[in-house]
Amino acid sequence: MWDIHSQTKMKLAILEKYLAAWATILKERSDVLYYIDGFAGPGWYNDPETKTKVAGSPIRAVQIYVMHKKDKGWKYELRFINVEKDSTTFQELQKETSKFEKDAKITNIEGEFLDNLDKILCEIEGYNSFFFMDPFGISGIEFDQLTNVLKRPKTEIFIKFSYNEFQRCLGQLKNCDDPDKTTRNKARKTIERVSRMMGIETEHLSFLQELFDNLEKEEGYLATYLNNLRKCKRFVYPFKINFPGSQRTFYYLILLTDNITGLKIMKDIMYAEEHRELRQLVLFPEKRPIDFLADEFTSHYSGRSVPYNRILEDWLPISQYINGADYLEKDVRDALKLLELRHHVRPVKKSGYKYPLYVFKG
Ligand SMILES: C[S@@+](CC[C@H](N)C(=O)[O-])C[C@H]1O[C@@H](n2cnc3c(N)ncnc32)[C@H](O)[C@@H]1O
Repeated sequence: MWDIHSQTKMKLAILEKYLAAWATILKERSDVLYYIDGFAGPGWYNDPETKTKVAGSPIRAVQIYVMHKKDKGWKYELRFINVEKDSTTFQELQKETSKFEKDAKITNIEGEFLDNLDKILCEIEGYNSFFFMDPFGISGIEFDQLTNVLKRPKTEIFIKFSYNEFQRCLGQLKNCDDPDKTTRNKARKTIERVSRMMGIETEHLSFLQELFDNLEKEEGYLATYLNNLRKCKRFVYPFKINFPGSQRTFYYLILLTDNITGLKIMKDIMYAEEHRELRQLVLFPEKRPIDFLADEFTSHYSGRSVPYNRILEDWLPISQYINGADYLEKDVRDALKLLELRHHVRPVKKSGYKYPLYVFKG
């Protein structure tokens, strides 16, 4: 059994909370939902601190479902598809998930996620689905091969971008023109792998490498990847996980959704988890600039009537890593309240609508 580390605990806590919220919302619309764990692992970890067993992603997902069914009496069916490439790990996964056979329909597939994707897409056809893609490194999530999932309607995706591994592979850029053929070929192969994962040309990778410092480079690579993902889904939002006790990026967890409610919930969950984990760099600064956001609203929406959700759609996808600011729904509400007090905006409640329309002064 693998040992669990603090960053994995945080990853699993975010996944678990979001999955519970996702199922809670979608159970109203769909009798059957699917959870697909593309890189499932063995199902359990060992916690060396507490000397206890801690559930990994495929077991956590099924536990949430069982809990919903038993404690809350929810009637929807959540089905599970887990893919695992390593045969020993797969056997552990089989053994662990078999304990839930009576409670849920669980299909375990031994093999590579991408090799099994067509089969999975056939099975989940038409149903709302949540994909978790959590590889160790950068292989197995090649952009072009993923597009059928990324563009699929009724689909939310939580994908890991292993920045540390990505950066290590990029180190091979300097060897791409090495006089030694073996070194050169090895380097070129690695760089091709990186560009296939990102869905960009190798020249673009070298171009970004010319950027000023490591921080600029990281922003450049992350922005490039996010922009590619945004061609497939409306909202794409990253959350950074650092190495324990350090400010160095380990990986990004990226949510892809077409639904602003999904993004809103995910940001609240990430914010709460980040503040629980003190070793983590604070993504959302303690004092977010509400005055600044209110001024932005005034200049952006001057003289217009804007639905509340439209305002969320404009401001929640902003990410601190790229744009230098990051807002939660609460910040948007606070900024609107501030503008109401200043008589710069007037909320108008319309019958049949959950949220008001905001009428901004010209
Ligand atoms: C980071 S671990 C997954 C951990 C798991 N998501 C959890 O949180 O409990 C990645 C797993 O993916 C498996 N794997 C690696 N490449 C794969 C591929 N192409 N397709 C499916 N599984 C793969 C590895 O053997 C490993 O068990």
